[in-house]
Amino acid sequence: MKLAFLGLGTMGFPMAGHLHEGGHEVCVYNRTTAKAQQWVGEYGGDFGETPAQAAAGAEIVFCCVGNDDDLRQVVNGEQGAFEGMAPGAILVDHTTASAEVARELDAAARARGLHFIDAPVSGGQAGAQNGALSIMCGGEAGVFARIEPVIAAYGKSSSLLGAAGSGQLAKMVNQICVAGAVQGLAEAVHFIKRSGLDGRAVFDVIRHGAAGSWQMDNRHEAMLDGEFDFGFAVDWMRKDLRITLEEARNNGASLPITALLDQFYADVQSMGGGRWDTCSLVKRLKD
Ligand SMILES: NC(=O)c1ccc[n+]([C@@H]2O[C@H](COP(=O)([O-])OP(=O)(O)OC[C@H]3O[C@@H](n4cnc5c(N)ncnc54)[C@H](OP(=O)(O)O)[C@@H]3O)[C@@H](O)[C@H]2O)c1
Repeated sequence: MKLAFLGLGTMGFPMAGHLHEGGHEVCVYNRTTAKAQQWVGEYGGDFGETPAQAAAGAEIVFCCVGNDDDLRQVVNGEQGAFEGMAPGAILVDHTTASAEVARELDAAARARGLHFIDAPVSGGQAGAQNGALSIMCGGEAGVFARIEPVIAAYGKSSSLLGAAGSGQLAKMVNQICVAGAVQGLAEAVHFIKRSGLDGRAVFDVIRHGAAGSWQMDNRHEAMLDGEFDFGFAVDWMRKDLRITLEEARNNGASLPITALLDQFYADVQSMGGGRWDTCSLVKRLKD
């Protein structure tokens, strides 16, 4: 298929690579052009100078940028993807954004005879690199059926959870679970250091029991070693928690621990850790 991918960050760069390796013809766009050139150097294919240029002629246009405003700009702004897409084409958005912006872009797509699917992902940098992401989708069933075999290039599992915005709501559920799990693991690492136990040995045994989790498998070493310069940025987590807490205010859900963890992440930002991986939550706890 002829595809386009907009946003070659930590996640987008390898995801677009999987599409290329899946045999598709991929045209990429990145705001900082050097990264688009690097991608083309690594995989081949082509890059566009604007989102509209990259999206022209593509059957499916994928996007993975930062937040709601970035998304509006890249998809529906001047020289945005919608400007270049032909009627019937599909925009699949992998950004973690609000359910509101998903509904807004879905309506804008319909007005132009285009389709929109919100499809935020979970599984981190490693999931993107290894093609093992969980993909939560919102949109129409017929459109989802067309994209499902294509996103399998980097997805371990994908599901349609309802109308536009449902994928973003499911991602909020994911982040509520992640925030609590990371703080639990941080407190465990803190306790291990105080107790004099061998952390690696402890996690090697307990990860097979009831305490096991993705965070434990993938983040205990970084927490024990104090290595945070990788992965899922604290700034992104704060964005996700803000969106989640706003949605909870609207739907009446009570999220006291999530709200507290949002403040803990604010502490990490004020330590200079905005781009550190979210497991840096352990830095708040003294060794
Ligand atoms: N990293 C993870 O583990 C992870 C996991 C799940 C979900 N996510 C979500 O996936 C999204 C991307 O995350 P990431 O880690 O890949 O972020 P990232 O490394 O910071 O990359 C962000 C990408 O978006 C582009 N971008 C941002 N604002 C833009 C704008 N206004 N116009 C055009 N391009 C813009 C950036 O372009 P430049 O190169 O020019 O800056 C870059 O290509 C976020 O919504 C994040 O919450 C991330």
